[in-house]
Amino acid sequence: MIIGIYDSGLGGLTVWREIRQLRAAKLIYFGDTLHMPYGEKTPGQLQDYFWKITEFFQSKGTQAVVVACNTSSALVLPEVKTAAPLPVFGVIDAALEAILPVSRGRVGLLATKGTVESGVYQQALQKRKPSWRVFAQSAPRLVPLIEAGKISGPEVEAALREYLEPLLAQEIDTLFLGCTHYPFLKELIEKISGPGLKIVNPAKSLALEVSNWLQKTGAGPKPQEAGTEFWVSADPQNFRKVARDLLREDIPQVGFYQFPGEVKK
Ligand code: DGL
Repeated sequence: MIIGIYDSGLGGLTVWREIRQLRAAKLIYFGDTLHMPYGEKTPGQLQDYFWKITEFFQSKGTQAVVVACNTSSALVLPEVKTAAPLPVFGVIDAALEAILPVSRGRVGLLATKGTVESGVYQQALQKRKPSWRVFAQSAPRLVPLIEAGKISGPEVEAALREYLEPLLAQEIDTLFLGCTHYPFLKELIEKISGPGLKIVNPAKSLALEVSNWLQKTGAGPKPQEAGTEFWVSADPQNFRKVARDLLREDIPQVGFYQFPGEVKK
């Protein structure tokens, strides 16, 4: 079994590190660094990237795709899921599974512009819990900072304060990290929010969803299949260097994949 996991860049690694714990499949991680950040892209662009990356995964023998990105999950998944030639998993359902048992009814959504404006989380929560209040905040400066390896220091703290303060002023009890990059900022978020705020990262729920699917398809854990290949669409050395800093562990050599018809960086 080979599973492909992708994101605009490093954020999907927060999902990858949970899925690899399953040790049930070989993983191929793809960071679409050429098109990062995804948060500002149109649904049409994100759909185009989905199909290109799926084609790449298929050329590598992948049997399922995990969209480890909230923006793409929110904006393209409903369109591509049924048309895709292989099973596709996204973050939205997993996120709801993670938020619903935890919150007391005041949820802060911190996400990219695309995810916030899609209204996907606001609507889904409204449907499941009509009495709950959801306060959404887009945070466009965070992804480029994290991609540059900045997860602490005055610049990140100032940006994060600006985005968190309006949510904290609403007395949220739960903060949902609606972008897979943000768990890398958890320590700083806790420093700003102080104790008592529940911080929800959907990565574990998504890994559970994948695990349930693997069990249903009869693909049990085969340790010899564990291991990950890393690929990006631009600047593999930088990806490896920053990934090492964020994960606090080394990752193997990162390959460069040039999308057919796109310019090499
Ligand atoms: N990590 C992605 C997400 O969850 C994409 C962020 C971006 O590239 O703007 O939305």
